[in-house]
Amino acid sequence: MQLPEGKTGLLAGAALAATAAGAAAYVYTNKLTCEQGVVVFLDGSKIGIHLGKCESIDELKGQVEEKLHIEDCRLFVEQAEGRPELSSSAELAAALASPALRVSGVLLLLATADSQPLSSTAQQAPKLLAIPAGPKPLPLVGSFLLYKQGGQGHPAYNFAANVFAPEKRAVWGDTVLIVLPHSGGPDGEVLKDVQPGLLDYAVATCDPEVVAELLARQDDFPKLWGRRKAERSLQAVAGNGLFTSSTLDKDWQVAHGLLPRAFNQIRIKNYFGVLLDKTRSFVAAWAQMPQGGTIEGVSDWLTCMTADAVVKAAMGMDMGNVEAKAAGQPLHKFIDAFRFCLKSALGRATVESEFGSLAAWNPFFDGAAALAKKKASALQASHDVVSELLERTRKGEIGGPQSVLSAMLNDVSPSTGDYVRLQNIYGQVMNLMIAGHETTAATLAWALYYISTHPEVEAKALAEISAVLGERCEPRADDVPKLRCEPRADDVPKLVYLEACFREALRLHPAVGTVTRDVYADTTLKGTWFVRKGQRVDINNVALQRREDQWGGSFGDPNAYNPERFMPGAAEASGRHPNAFNPWGFGVRACIGSQFALWEGKLFLCMVLRCFKFRVPEGFARPLPSTADGGAAPTPHHLALRIWKRKESGAVLESISSQVAAAKAGAAAPAAAQKGAAPAAAQHGAAPAAATAAAEASHGTPLLILYGSNTGTCEELASSLAGQAAAAGFAAKTASLDSVLATPAGPAGGALPEAGALLVISSTYNGTPPDNAAEFARWLPKQADGSLSKVTFGVFGVGNSQWAQTYQAFPTQVALGLARAGATQVMEMRCSDVDSNDWMEAFDEWQREVLRGLLVTFGVNPPEAYVAAVNSGAAAGEAKARLQLRLLEASEPGQALSVETVIAQLRAAKPDGYHLLEVLENRELQGPGASRSTRHVQLALPAGEAGQYSAGDHLEVMGNNDKALVAAALKRLGLTGAERVEWRANIEGGSGSARSLGGSGGLSLILSVSDALTWLVDLAAVPSKRTVSLLAEGCPCPPEAAALRQLATEEGYKEKVSGQRLTLVELLGQFQSLSVSLDQLANLLPRMGPRYYSISSSPLARPGTCSISVGLVAFTTPSGRPHRGAASATINATPVGGKLLGSVRKLSSSFRLPQDPSTPVIMIGPGTGVAPMMGFLQERAALAAGGASLGPAHLFFGCRSSAEDFIYRAELEGYVKSGVLAGLHVAFSREPGASKVYVQDLILQQGPALWGLFEAGAHVYVCGDARRMAPDVRNAFKEMAKSCGGRNAAAAESWMGGLLEAKRYLEDVWAG
Ligand SMILES: Cc1cc2nc3c(=O)[nH]c(=O)nc-3n(C[C@H](O)[C@H](O)[C@H](O)COP(=O)(O)OP(=O)(O)OC[C@H]3O[C@@H](n4cnc5c(N)ncnc54)[C@H](O)[C@@H]3O)c2cc1C
Ligand code: HEM
Ligand SMILES: Cc1cc2nc3c(=O)[nH]c(=O)nc-3n(C[C@H](O)[C@H](O)[C@H](O)COP(=O)(O)O)c2cc1C
Repeated sequence: MQLPEGKTGLLAGAALAATAAGAAAYVYTNKLTCEQGVVVFLDGSKIGIHLGKCESIDELKGQVEEKLHIEDCRLFVEQAEGRPELSSSAELAAALASPALRVSGVLLLLATADSQPLSSTAQQAPKLLAIPAGPKPLPLVGSFLLYKQGGQGHPAYNFAANVFAPEKRAVWGDTVLIVLPHSGGPDGEVLKDVQPGLLDYAVATCDPEVVAELLARQDDFPKLWGRRKAERSLQAVAGNGLFTSSTLDKDWQVAHGLLPRAFNQIRIKNYFGVLLDKTRSFVAAWAQMPQGGTIEGVSDWLTCMTADAVVKAAMGMDMGNVEAKAAGQPLHKFIDAFRFCLKSALGRATVESEFGSLAAWNPFFDGAAALAKKKASALQASHDVVSELLERTRKGEIGGPQSVLSAMLNDVSPSTGDYVRLQNIYGQVMNLMIAGHETTAATLAWALYYISTHPEVEAKALAEISAVLGERCEPRADDVPKLRCEPRADDVPKLVYLEACFREALRLHPAVGTVTRDVYADTTLKGTWFVRKGQRVDINNVALQRREDQWGGSFGDPNAYNPERFMPGAAEASGRHPNAFNPWGFGVRACIGSQFALWEGKLFLCMVLRCFKFRVPEGFARPLPSTADGGAAPTPHHLALRIWKRKESGAVLESISSQVAAAKAGAAAPAAAQKGAAPAAAQHGAAPAAATAAAEASHGTPLLILYGSNTGTCEELASSLAGQAAAAGFAAKTASLDSVLATPAGPAGGALPEAGALLVISSTYNGTPPDNAAEFARWLPKQADGSLSKVTFGVFGVGNSQWAQTYQAFPTQVALGLARAGATQVMEMRCSDVDSNDWMEAFDEWQREVLRGLLVTFGVNPPEAYVAAVNSGAAAGEAKARLQLRLLEASEPGQALSVETVIAQLRAAKPDGYHLLEVLENRELQGPGASRSTRHVQLALPAGEAGQYSAGDHLEVMGNNDKALVAAALKRLGLTGAERVEWRANIEGGSGSARSLGGSGGLSLILSVSDALTWLVDLAAVPSKRTVSLLAEGCPCPPEAAALRQLATEEGYKEKVSGQRLTLVELLGQFQSLSVSLDQLANLLPRMGPRYYSISSSPLARPGTCSISVGLVAFTTPSGRPHRGAASATINATPVGGKLLGSVRKLSSSFRLPQDPSTPVIMIGPGTGVAPMMGFLQERAALAAGGASLGPAHLFFGCRSSAEDFIYRAELEGYVKSGVLAGLHVAFSREPGASKVYVQDLILQQGPALWGLFEAGAHVYVCGDARRMAPDVRNAFKEMAKSCGGRNAAAAESWMGGLLEAKRYLEDVWAG
């Protein structure tokens, strides 16, 4: 061990520095030995040295000079009025006796003769204080009761509650001195001159800064095991292994060089097979349980699992405990022996506990001797097992090169060059057992408990498992009772949410509740507190890991289970201290098995959660952490779980028929359940026979598909799903989420159907529901827990990840809300990110799988044609074409209608459709030399919409394809454009269908092919990967088919399709062997969707009209095609008197000015993001003109330069003059001769002024770019809350959360 030499080195360094610069020294007197010590501070390094007893100031100087190797030392004393030089022993004595000093000492500054005046380091040397005293100790027992008393179930938890609860910390602090009854023993060589009993003046802390310091100064604070009685008892049975030995111990140093290598990342991957096998056995064992049966003693099961896993992985022996427990056979003798050893070491084995109370009171029974005998024989049994293990390893029967036993037998420790002592191997093995399985078992027990009581966590975990494992996620029907869901080794790192679940369990319930370190020499902590050689520092992990300031804030109650705390980025976002999470210990003594535990835990949770649903038995109260179930790590006391095998949503289709046939042939319901195919009806208490009876060719199981959709995407998906579902034999209906509330579906008048199933497909808008789901969003949270227990459901979310903060917010809310209200999820929620080109693939996959899942759940057979189609990989069951277009023969009657007539007919059939809006004004807003264009367009509103909009609303405008795109499509189709098509427009669905032209069904309209291609489909869209695959499948020419298949690969697609922004027509141009009809082309393309524009006017200003501010999108694609935005170019080019197709879209969000005009307003709207702000300003001007008194309003606008695109400059400056705007802050990113400035920079500059507005209740409006600007602006405000509001990162986060919740921070942002 290098420690003493290292100290000398440090001392020499200190001396040199002292000579050069002067230093501060703290001199104290040990009252017992009358010795004096010096702690010297040098540029942040603090060291302690002992001096002999000094009788005079000169003697003290002499000793200091000698110890620090300096000359001509001068001492100065710290006093309230200054730091005068010490000149006499009397002055020193007086200083040391000063009552102000609580640690019998005085701060001296020492300087050598040539370092006058004192260096700044010395001048600034801090005062030393004693560690603040904790709760007052009692006579004899000291603070012992702080650990023992309290309803927390475990000493570390009691202590956390008694000393470190927030209100207690306010009294005593985060670090306190705790006086304990004497339990220490002789300290041996290392701490031989320690003041006796000092061990019992322990320093307890829950301060992450202290942990960080202990980590940084490991030599000053080593782990010295064996100083307390309890430690020695554990050592007596567990030997001198890695965990239970001192850092200064040679055994630790030797083994530390060898053992950790057995658990490094590479080795862990090698252990994957072992972990998988064991988990399989475990799953198979639990699969034997009846559906809804209760597993008692969950912790025992988990202990078997983790003990088997670590011994098999690290030593090559399978103890077979899981299998033995499943078969009801005795466990491996090592387990019982080991547990008894542990129990007796922890002082929990008593005569009564082992031999019964009769024996305890029997005067003729020598309990103590019997106990000792039992202990000796358990110890002997443990030794025997380890000897056997060693012997078998030596003979090559078990283990192999990876075995830690082989390593200990054959390898020399790289750190010391020694072999592990033979005698020490037993201890090392026992230590691996103690450290390696109790801990993981306890953590898994907590994780299972929390996941089973938090359906929202369960749903998210299942979604992740499904996303990561894909097809491998499905328990296989033919494996029952060995239900399987088999991740591969490379899946494990991807299970980030499961890891978060595991870590969150560890946070709330650290398996090692207190991590200890010892003070090696008198020194300081945090540069302030004086700590004495031999004192113990106890880090209370329970309190540390539940601190409000580290774990609360936007993550809610720190005592509640919320795995989001451990999702990537969460720690950084909340400004969490890196040492606030300490479950594995730290530094050289950190856990060597943490990676092993994480792999084991994630793999276990993945398989077990996928195969089973767990719930705690009715009436089971929140369990206390306890070691009463055996073991050293606190587990949830007496945890029992009810268990259900999950249904096999992914069973292969062929097997569906056989399962149903078997069910029909009279197989008992439990047998079906055993196969994981229990009909949902059975779970809901309905007669299973009813479900099976429906298994006819078209079984007609009711299926309600609800969508939430603004622009029609989800509605279209719902309609596609309905087509597929009908083909699979379901009686499928679609409706919007809100419309279902009006028509009771359940027998008891409930809104949701209790027969059959419910599938929901929805999008999100700035975190809020789509308009036709707003009612539903309000209704769902009001449903009582359990009230929807007869509903079976599935959810699919469609969102855009550019809205990072609220990605998939609404569908997630629906899935959680339904689960919370007791509905049964047929399959975990899945989702698509429309920001990716292949987002439809995820939907297709979900569609297939959810239908399979429902067939199995209801035990019904799909029509054979459906089975055949799915098995052949064809598009199963012809879905209804999304766009129904039929090219008319020349002989067929019917005139092509003008666009105006089509719109009029659509409106007549469905009054909330689009209008043709006359353009009243269309003027350029950018400066004369600008390279881009932004237009101010004033439009006349039809009577119905004119009075209805508010500043902040949107206008939807339908774009059209530019002529070149249409011409290219016509050319590829071999048509002139004058041909006619019959379009069956859907007018039945919700608002979405009217809002995008297209859909299917309903009204029959005839239009020219040219108009159909111009208005109905988006010809500029990039085809998805799936579309490219479909083309490859249908391509008759083998070389072209091969080339298309290549384009459908990840790289091919990225490089040659999406990277080129290739259109479908361009792609078809490259593959001439493909023949495509108009109808096929139209259905391979997305429908033309409306574009949103923020209205830039107020109805109060120019009634009957509204304006929009539109930036022209124009660029050349990498393939060389000039692209002009479908809507913006149309708007740009529509002259005054021309018409645009559009409609006012009233916002369901709260992007509106505050009711009270005197409320301060802060607006951030760079570029065209200024549009709604112009509306707000017009509104404020109108209000002011009407006599309202306005609160201050500030606008942050951003553009490239003042000459180019400072749009609405005159209007804005006018508003400043009139007082409508109190501050106009313009950020120029490309102003000649100036550096780049963005709106967020200006926000930071204006911090103090803005903070004042916040305090006065300001509302904030942000509009524009969702990807970068909006997050940057949020961050700028959070920075302001820190710098001006004095908040730390976590508090700033929760401040922002509060504003969002109160709807005082509103965003209307879009992806560019
Ligand atoms: C809530 C909301 C409010 C909005 N308010 C306004 C507003 O007030 N004013 C306004 O002008 N716009 C606004 N927009 C944006 C507007 O809706 C349109 O998205 C925009 O006008 C483009 O539509 P387009 O049909 O002209 O272009 P499209 O034909 O749809 O083309 C746009 C596509 O081209 C891509 N693209 C753009 N530039 C390039 C390039 N250089 N290279 C490669 N690809 C590129 C884009 O990523 C996008 O996919 C708003 C959007 C939303 C969602
Ligand atoms: C959730 C699971 C686990 C937790 C919470 C945990 C926790 C800890 C902690 C806190 C320490 C440090 C103790 C201290 O500083 O005094 C430690 C050390 C140790 N752990 Fe773990 N552990 C876990 C799993 C494992 C596993 C699976 C193994 C073995 C494969 C293992 C082997 C060890 C060993 C050998 C040490 C001593 C290291 C040393 O001091 O050199 N642990 N563990
Ligand atoms: C104004 C606007 C706001 C949006 N906000 C979100 C959002 O907060 N979260 C999200 O995941 N997707 C968001 N999106 C993406 C939409 O959910 C996505 O475009 C979806 O395909 C729309 O489906 P729909 O046509 O059925 O409404 C937003 C889109 C727009 C236009």
